[in-house]
Amino acid sequence: MVVTVSDIPRLLAELTLEEKASLLSGSDFWHTQAVDRLGIPAVMLTDGPHGLRKQAGATDHLGLNDSVPATCFPSAAGLGSTWDPDLLRRVGQALGAETLANDVAVLLGPGINMKRSPLCGRNFEYVAEDPHLAGELAAPLVEGIQSQGVGTSLKHFAANNQETDRMRISAEVDERTLREIYLPAFEKVVTRAQPWTVMCSYNRINGTYASQDPWLLTDVLRSEWGFEGLVVSDWGAVDDRVAGVAAGLDLEMPASDGINDARVVEAVRSGDLAEADLDRAVARVLHLVARSQAARAEPGTTDHEANHALAREAATRAAVLLKNDDGALPLERGSLPATTVVIGEMARTPRYQGAGSSQVNPTRLVSALDALREQGLDVPFAPGYVLAEASTAVGQERSDVDLRREAVELATGRTAVLFLGLPAIDESEGYDRAHLDLPASHIALLADVAAVADRTIVLLSNGSAVAVADWQEHADAILELWLGGQAGGPAAVDLLLGDAAPSGRLAESIPERLADVPAQLNFPGENGVVRYGEGIFIGYRGLDATGAAVSYPFGHGLTYTTFAYADLAVDGGPVTEATGADDVVVRVRAVVTNTGGRAGAAVPQLYVGRPDSLLARAPRELRGFARLELAPGESRPVEFTLTRRDLSHWDTVTRGWSVEPGALEVSVGASSRDLPLRAVLPLEAPARRAPLTGYSTIGEWVADPEAGPALIGAMGEFGAMFGPDSPDASMAAFLTSMPVVKVPLMGMSRALTVETLEDLIARYGTR
Ligand code: BGC
Repeated sequence: MVVTVSDIPRLLAELTLEEKASLLSGSDFWHTQAVDRLGIPAVMLTDGPHGLRKQAGATDHLGLNDSVPATCFPSAAGLGSTWDPDLLRRVGQALGAETLANDVAVLLGPGINMKRSPLCGRNFEYVAEDPHLAGELAAPLVEGIQSQGVGTSLKHFAANNQETDRMRISAEVDERTLREIYLPAFEKVVTRAQPWTVMCSYNRINGTYASQDPWLLTDVLRSEWGFEGLVVSDWGAVDDRVAGVAAGLDLEMPASDGINDARVVEAVRSGDLAEADLDRAVARVLHLVARSQAARAEPGTTDHEANHALAREAATRAAVLLKNDDGALPLERGSLPATTVVIGEMARTPRYQGAGSSQVNPTRLVSALDALREQGLDVPFAPGYVLAEASTAVGQERSDVDLRREAVELATGRTAVLFLGLPAIDESEGYDRAHLDLPASHIALLADVAAVADRTIVLLSNGSAVAVADWQEHADAILELWLGGQAGGPAAVDLLLGDAAPSGRLAESIPERLADVPAQLNFPGENGVVRYGEGIFIGYRGLDATGAAVSYPFGHGLTYTTFAYADLAVDGGPVTEATGADDVVVRVRAVVTNTGGRAGAAVPQLYVGRPDSLLARAPRELRGFARLELAPGESRPVEFTLTRRDLSHWDTVTRGWSVEPGALEVSVGASSRDLPLRAVLPLEAPARRAPLTGYSTIGEWVADPEAGPALIGAMGEFGAMFGPDSPDASMAAFLTSMPVVKVPLMGMSRALTVETLEDLIARYGTR
């Protein structure tokens, strides 16, 4: 059975109402409906995102059935830490090829929700706390996957930033925050890479379920961003199916047991749903079927060895070297194994991916201990702790104590390489984390080992930030591995031995205290509502605004060499009415030099700030980054461009993007808090004229170069107070926020009558 795009009009004419409705939901957990009578086949959509999870036997949702073996790449938290779009494209190509070879039409990912709180249980599946970074990395990933002739599902659209109550919660987010923080990564990927599908989220946004929100699914996604693909529900996210079809939700997954299909039929019959809305959704399902069939004619094969090597490279690039006192890393290969011990069960039993729908059945799984042994490095090992199912598990204390004692004996006078991290139960789809801490047994082990060891190296396996403030003094070096996928073990060994140099950078801040994260005041909400009260101040934006101490800032990451930043040059502007959104307005150049003795990758980052802004602003926001491989002593220039859109904020009055004139601060450096290069320049842009009404204040009128003098003149003696030669500046300041409509009503100025004010409003209000 083959359907092509040109068949769609004919099929729409031939399908019965019932058949059309049936096409709008799944036939089972993973497949769309077939209509055999007309030769319309079913296609399969399956998880995702960092590997293929195609269940082999009967389908079930929770991953209880084994899925076919597939390459398990680092989860998104790791991929996000690479800051490496080219790598993401290559990972995408490999994922796409495996998807195609397994006869699957759509891989359900990537997930690009913002990491609003480090406690979100699903942060391991998300890329970053910053929309620029998430969008710049997810777009090539999507392009890579789709280059193989299979689709992606960009998820979870939108404002799905917690797992608590995820199927009901209403994320109460103001418009500017949605536009500047929660939507731009989706916008970037949609406009640049056209994912075949977008998956709407479970939650409500400002009271409306994402699955039936016409503003989200049609006005923004299609009319503004030009999305051409299909919108699929998250699994079970449909509330009112008929409202969903009208709003732009094309495909409901999984099957709803015919219940919603019948409702759709009924709604069309009763006139509650326009048949045109139904046809539009059916056409999009048929289009998905047609485009997926085109490539599946030649399913291709999977090179598992090459993909394992790519997974190793990705895991290597994902790791972030947080700290490296006195060059503790890399280790001297020659002195191993005599001087070194490996401690921690996670070295033998890796924690390499997160729990829930993204769980992949890896083609291979190599632990760090195995990887060392494969290189002939038979390093002594002690497990150090029981790999608990829960960090607070009762009844393990005794064995932890025994294991700790044994580890301490082994580590005395040696270099101790400790593998610590979060147990699987601590972070998962479906629920949020309760705290940021490592298990107490891991911290106690570290303290005791560090007291006797020569040097202490900590490697962390976790899917989202863990607090380090209370224990990092015990570690000479800390290497954050995230959830490194099936080749995370060999990647860790490559980095330990210096066969590869760390090049990851933090895509999420590591706060010193959880309480300093602004979102925590409103996380995870109550009574079905979570208020995003911190507004645009998530992640480093908030931490930098309050000046809270962080253990490691967004963008941070060391390597085995050092870099210097110099020669900042900034030029450009002005913004005019004619400047297009994508037109380059400002160019920023700098030179980065490798000042150390080893090769390494610098990741110069560009941040912009608007120091005199009249709006609430983060001190700085990421707007560019690059990855430069530099040999010792090598210098290379880097250039960034800032478009009009990069310099814009969302204006809630005009409901559009707008550039504020005034000072523009440009900084370049190694993290949001290490910015050696800074320049401030004036940015000219057309001043936005707010529409003037009776409810505009005296101050707003006076600020307008034409309307101001007119109002001052019309207010007679009272008006003189607001002029340049004010006789009473303090009184003027006192009255400046009074709406002008009050002036005649309160008898402030006899000269300004209700009628003269109406004339002024007619003249200046709607220019
Ligand atoms: C998850 C999605 C996933 C889907 C299918 C849902 O529970 O939120 O991310 O793709 O299940 O497994």
